[in-house]
Amino acid sequence: MKTDLPQSFRRLEYRPPNYTFGQVELDIALDPARTIVKSRLQVLPGKSYETGAPLVLQGQELEFVSLRINGDAHRHFELTPETLSIYSLPNDGKDPFVVEIICICVPEKNTSLMGLYVSNGNFFTQCEAEGFRKITYFLDRPDVMAKFRVTLQARETECPVLLANGNLLSTEKLPNGWHSAVWEDPFPKPSYLFALVAGKLDCIEETITTGSGARKLLQIWVEPHDLKKTRHAMDSLIASIRWDERRYGLELDLERFMIVAVSDFNMGAMENKGLNIFNTKYVLAQPETATDIDFANIESVVAHEYFHNWTGNRVTCQDWFQLSLKEGLTVFRDQEFSADQMGTQSGRAVKRIEDVRTLRQLQFPEDAGPMAHPIRPDEYQEINNFYTVTVYEKGAEVVRMYQTLLGVEGFRKGMDLYFKRHDGQAVTCDDFLAAMADANHCDLTQFKNWYSQAGTPRIKVEERYDAPQNQYHLTLSQSIAPSPSQSEKQPFHIPLKVRLLTPADDQVEQLLELKAEKQTWTFDNINERPVLSLNRNFSAPIRLDFSQSEADLLALFSSDDDAFNRWESGQKLAMQMILENRLPDAELIAAYRDILLDPELDPAFKELALTLPAETYLYEQCTSVDPQQIFKSRRAFRRALASSLRLEWAALYQQMQTPDGFKPDAISAGKRALKNLALSMLLDADALIWAPMAVNQYQNADNMTDRYAALAGLVIHGVNAAKECLEDFYQRFAGDALVLDKWFALQSSRPPVDGAEQTLTDVYRLREHVAFKMNNPNRVRSVIHAFCMNNPASFHQADGSGYAFWAEAVLALDPINPQVAARLARALDRWRLFAQPYQGKMHAYLEEVAANKTLSADVREVITKALGN
Ligand code: TRP
Ligand code: ZN
Repeated sequence: MKTDLPQSFRRLEYRPPNYTFGQVELDIALDPARTIVKSRLQVLPGKSYETGAPLVLQGQELEFVSLRINGDAHRHFELTPETLSIYSLPNDGKDPFVVEIICICVPEKNTSLMGLYVSNGNFFTQCEAEGFRKITYFLDRPDVMAKFRVTLQARETECPVLLANGNLLSTEKLPNGWHSAVWEDPFPKPSYLFALVAGKLDCIEETITTGSGARKLLQIWVEPHDLKKTRHAMDSLIASIRWDERRYGLELDLERFMIVAVSDFNMGAMENKGLNIFNTKYVLAQPETATDIDFANIESVVAHEYFHNWTGNRVTCQDWFQLSLKEGLTVFRDQEFSADQMGTQSGRAVKRIEDVRTLRQLQFPEDAGPMAHPIRPDEYQEINNFYTVTVYEKGAEVVRMYQTLLGVEGFRKGMDLYFKRHDGQAVTCDDFLAAMADANHCDLTQFKNWYSQAGTPRIKVEERYDAPQNQYHLTLSQSIAPSPSQSEKQPFHIPLKVRLLTPADDQVEQLLELKAEKQTWTFDNINERPVLSLNRNFSAPIRLDFSQSEADLLALFSSDDDAFNRWESGQKLAMQMILENRLPDAELIAAYRDILLDPELDPAFKELALTLPAETYLYEQCTSVDPQQIFKSRRAFRRALASSLRLEWAALYQQMQTPDGFKPDAISAGKRALKNLALSMLLDADALIWAPMAVNQYQNADNMTDRYAALAGLVIHGVNAAKECLEDFYQRFAGDALVLDKWFALQSSRPPVDGAEQTLTDVYRLREHVAFKMNNPNRVRSVIHAFCMNNPASFHQADGSGYAFWAEAVLALDPINPQVAARLARALDRWRLFAQPYQGKMHAYLEEVAANKTLSADVREVITKALGN
């Protein structure tokens, strides 16, 4: 029987390896067309060694040349497209032996950007999760940790710089214009953390002294013309190193730490030991070319990758089901770092709001859709599909809940014990939970459900004020909808921060722990009906089912002392009104006005408070989505907000100017954000009147934040001058790939404008543009993903034209880069949520893609799960 059903991997089928490696030596002669990789592996029996078991190594797209064991040619092996199985091992493999393999790979043909590849003439690697097997045959799994020594050879004129993990031992000139460098990483590591970089690169350097007095060399490597854009990344790296010493007592453990930027990259960045490789988008910044958001993202991605050195590298994952062990924890750490960098308490709230918005806009839909999975998945077909917002962002929320339950100090105790127990090991999420529980002498058994159950819990809120008794009763019940392969669910252990707002202001914040399906709390000595402020600072990643009155929501919006909940109640009011197709009433407008005029509030907070919930978040509140109706209703609401407050917007536009030169700090960035929101609102209120001011800002801006915001305002509001400014922008920045990405993305994500032609027409044109490149992920994302995933009202057209574009793009991308194609494939995940005719059209195009026989495993998994068979 022929089965071409996709292979599934299951968490419960984990077995420790039967062999493992001691020392690994690699000798790599770099050539774009034919790179020769010689490996020398010291093989030892592994944890589940069985007498006589063959040694099965993974390898993909490799040309096999030769195999030796203990120095002698070895003929007892078998090759498949995915494996090299070696039989007849010396003494049945009971004692250590040495395997030497020679194989060849072709970096210049590698468009998947996994393994060894060429970008702008330079060599780079990406090995997480399973890319190392495209470089040589190996036990390519994270629980096999080995010491690596790497010799790189290349033509000196083509590759003057040769980098790998760890410390540089020696360099040498070779005959025929070749040279070599030997690198050694003193820390055992799994293959996914291996990296090499070679080519024409230049760096900025800095030497710092860490807590213990050790001197460390920090370098940021880029193409020479980008050197002037590296300062912010270096400052971010130094700030991250300092923060991890201060907050967690964790020091940099290598003599040298390098960051390298590459313009062809599948994701944000990668934490390879001592040699982090970054998408240029998360390294390069200058005020003229990078926005405030870019600056903040660089700071947080640099921190994220640096923090992985302890949470991921020193303590790594036993298997890929445990991915959230390192990702959830490291995202939590980078969120805390960024919050601390904000400086003020209200700055922390701004960061928290931004993180929760991402979670709700991206993770909630994932948790309710066909790809829903627990933060520790039980099954996958292609691990690359599980680098998800659930594993990362919900994973970070789960880590945050430990801190909420145990306190900051208790959490730190847990971290200390985690490192004490597991440094140098490959472990599981259970090990992390056990360290937290043991360090705090508490029982976290029920907390494990957060790791095993998918879906966003719903909490129903019932309140009753008993005036005669001066008592307030709060009843909370939790429920969670069934998700693919999980129908029955157990109650979660949910930490809920709560405060009763009373006229006497006499109630303190409390932490409620909801553990049962339904629980009631009684509050005594409540002399007047209170207003409930629940799930403060978003203490748990849940949805509240609570029909709080609009009067109470307004009260919270004007005066909750929890800045997150203040923002939250405004969002809820706006959401309800938009979904009911209402306009903001006088009271809500007055509340918005008070917020805008409040001198105590951060501009950044004001900007968030006046930004409406995203369309995709509104979709999640419906049972049958009409995307055009939601777009119209949201736009009408926004226009009302724009014109009712036009005087305030005009005043703010002047007050929020930052005239004395560009500084990327949080306060200045907040002012620019609010000023640019004001500009956009004014354009919404009356595009013709305010267009000249926007053009003026476009022309005279001394920084990208302001220039881009002005351009976006003109484009989004369909102002005539937009065309000319777009052309000017293109000419000005034609040599800067990251800025061109913005130019493409802005046009692809333009929402529908009355009377203008559809964005899809532009998108087809942009795909034919000379600067469009199908094998550069940043460019593809700026045109294709931006349209299909960031422009819902243009994408969801009743005639299905957006979906036709999507299907064609998925099929065109898949043979070039399956990972990038699979991300795009997910744009139709929520098809069942839509009303007709959208739903039927989406279904038809999903079927069309599914019918293709040569889909990658990546895209195949996404599409089959979407179709639900
Ligand atoms: N570990 C990386 C991070 O979160 C993620 C990553 C970078 C990645 N590149 C990748 C994952 C390629 C899969 C494939 O920082
Ligand atoms: Zn990470």
